[in-house]
Amino acid sequence: MTPEHAPSPSGHPSTETFWNEHYGQREQIWSGQPNAVLVDEASGLAAGRALDVGCGEGADAIWLAGRGWQVTAVDVSGLALDRARAAAEAAGVAGSIDWQQHDLGSSFPAGEFELVSAQFLHSPVELPRVEILSAAAAAVAPGGRLLVVGHSGLPSWVDHDQPDVHFVTPGEVLASLSLDPAEWRTLSCEARTRAVRDPHGDHATLDDAVVLVERLVVTPDGSDRA
Ligand SMILES: C[S@@+](CC[C@H](N)C(=O)[O-])C[C@H]1O[C@@H](n2cnc3c(N)ncnc32)[C@H](O)[C@@H]1O
Repeated sequence: MTPEHAPSPSGHPSTETFWNEHYGQREQIWSGQPNAVLVDEASGLAAGRALDVGCGEGADAIWLAGRGWQVTAVDVSGLALDRARAAAEAAGVAGSIDWQQHDLGSSFPAGEFELVSAQFLHSPVELPRVEILSAAAAAVAPGGRLLVVGHSGLPSWVDHDQPDVHFVTPGEVLASLSLDPAEWRTLSCEARTRAVRDPHGDHATLDDAVVLVERLVVTPDGSDRA
């Protein structure tokens, strides 16, 4: 057994082991395309420093880098990061992305960012999501934005009669961040429906929980500037 595959003291596979095994199932897990809500929300922003938490195979980070952002991209899975690094090389943006491996429940990258993005930071193994998203908010520079996107419902092609499944609502995500209204402005807190293809290639929908907040620039006299 290599250290990478050692179980955690609880006997459950560690977060890193779980996600490396998940990525190891196929050569590519995600589509390679940037997430739609990120594209919608970041296309109009001036490029600056961006942080992608739970970057997976790196499509969002690569898209941001291609638009001039200096990106720090973090994931717990070394395998996903290796794929992301290779994809960034192929896209010619490797020099604009700092790939960092963290279990975000234990460590968080340093720095402050004009855009912090958490796209589908979900996990079937232990994930202190509220603490991680709070750290993500703390990493937003004054005048910058935090974008949190997650699943807000089952895909349209899945049986919805599953009483045990609870999706965190956008309102619950926002409330869990306990943001000071004197310091933050809510730009979006809503469920959005997205058109996708189901596994058979037919038209289908997915519901996203979208939270977008902006950290205000607080001037020395205490007034806010967006
Ligand atoms: C559902 S995937 C989403 C990946 C990517 N954001 C996307 O939208 O394609 C969740 C990602 O979070 C990462 N992840 C899960 N728990 C983590 C943790 N504790 N620290 C860092 N990354 C984690 C996983 O490795 C995985 O890449």
